[in-house]
Amino acid sequence: MELRNKLFLGTFVHSKALDELEYLHNAAVCVDTTGTIVAVEVDCDEPRAREIVLPGLGWDGAEVEVVKAKEGQFFFPGFIDTHLHASQYPNIGIFGKSTLLDWLNTYTFPLEASLADPAKARRVYTRVIRKTLSHGTTCAAYYATIDVPSTNLLADLCLSHGQRALVGRVCMDQLSPDYYRDASPDASLADTRASIAHILTADPTMSLVRPIITPRFAPACSLPLMRQLGALAHETSLPIQTHISENKSEIALVQSLFPRSATGAPDNSYATVYDAAGLLTDKTILAHAVHLTEAEADLVRARGAKVSHCPCSNSAITSGAARVRWLLDRGIGCGLGTDMSGGYSPSVLEAARQAALVSRHVVLGADGRGEGEEREKLSVEEVLFLATRGGAEVVGLEGRVGGFGVGLEWDAQLVGLGLVGEDGEVGPEEEEGDVDVFGWESWPERVAKWLYNGDDRNTKRVWVKGRLVHQRK
Ligand code: GUN
Ligand code: FE
Repeated sequence: MELRNKLFLGTFVHSKALDELEYLHNAAVCVDTTGTIVAVEVDCDEPRAREIVLPGLGWDGAEVEVVKAKEGQFFFPGFIDTHLHASQYPNIGIFGKSTLLDWLNTYTFPLEASLADPAKARRVYTRVIRKTLSHGTTCAAYYATIDVPSTNLLADLCLSHGQRALVGRVCMDQLSPDYYRDASPDASLADTRASIAHILTADPTMSLVRPIITPRFAPACSLPLMRQLGALAHETSLPIQTHISENKSEIALVQSLFPRSATGAPDNSYATVYDAAGLLTDKTILAHAVHLTEAEADLVRARGAKVSHCPCSNSAITSGAARVRWLLDRGIGCGLGTDMSGGYSPSVLEAARQAALVSRHVVLGADGRGEGEEREKLSVEEVLFLATRGGAEVVGLEGRVGGFGVGLEWDAQLVGLGLVGEDGEVGPEEEEGDVDVFGWESWPERVAKWLYNGDDRNTKRVWVKGRLVHQRK
């Protein structure tokens, strides 16, 4: 652990509101040894910072670590991946022409079951953490598997690599293969409690890693299991993550599995089933929500549950185009998820890019003829909000991460784009992964070029809670 105070200097870009990025140029951000931002000053070069800001904090300038963004580089908040399956990482890109229910049986359950092998789990989870950090993901809401030891290992590895995370042991006691299913609701609950206890022992203040109650999705969970998990959430105040309304066949299955006569709920909609089990709370992350009805959106909003929008996954396994504007208009908080490996990419930048593109398909409508509304379209600013501040709200870390401000923790990435020289070449340091900025672009234009053309090669360094957790070689 580095324990030095830090002074970051240069251009800082972050979301001020859903549709507004703020650009702080020639700015100084001071981060103390706990990883908390204690000062943000604009029009402040290094001499001024040393003369006024550091003494004002009572800091000895000689002890402070200085990190300067070079010309053209900028600091951006770390990305928050509000939904991904660490256990499915080896399968990214491997989905053929499958859709959700056959994809689960063909590709997903066999791989997840195989991670009960501790050596394999260590190998996969180590890689997933390194990989997502290298893409600027400073916080991830992970699904592991039903296996407790390897789920706990994932949490331990997040801690040792310094990635902020919510880690969930997957609960599923029905409609899945014999080789990969909880023996009973009680067994599922006991294993969940065991994993929660482990994670709370590893990080008692949940400073970096926290447990999350994870019923896989309604079809794979019996009503007694969902009810027990709802009660556990109530008892522990822990967050919940699950999937909702991703795919039309899945929705039909939920309606047939959970009739009103079984749940006692007013109807058999997907959201109502979760609500009847006490699983819709203001700490619930609902992945997908592609086909929610108006009444379900009302219920989700009333309970304060949030949505993880996973555009890469929804396109890849042909689930549909989620209406993010429609959700936001209804007051439902939204963030972005890669949903690896339903989604093919570990990059939240890619998810943001696809969120922008998928919103254009919502405008175009099912037949591509444009019967949708123009305002469904998401801007560069909006998708980057979802990737940072929106995500922070979804994972319950609003006011802690997601932007640059005094009191927030320093979860950030340094982004570099290739600046094209007079000779048409980019400098040696920018050569790799250059997005080709000519220098005449405005800052909003540079950020747009990053969103649409950037990748992990542009993510030069990454910090979580003030600690450097990734540096590009
Ligand atoms: N629904 C239930 N399980 C899964 C999963 O692993 N991925 C996705 N995308 N949807 C699911
Ligand atoms: Fe998922």
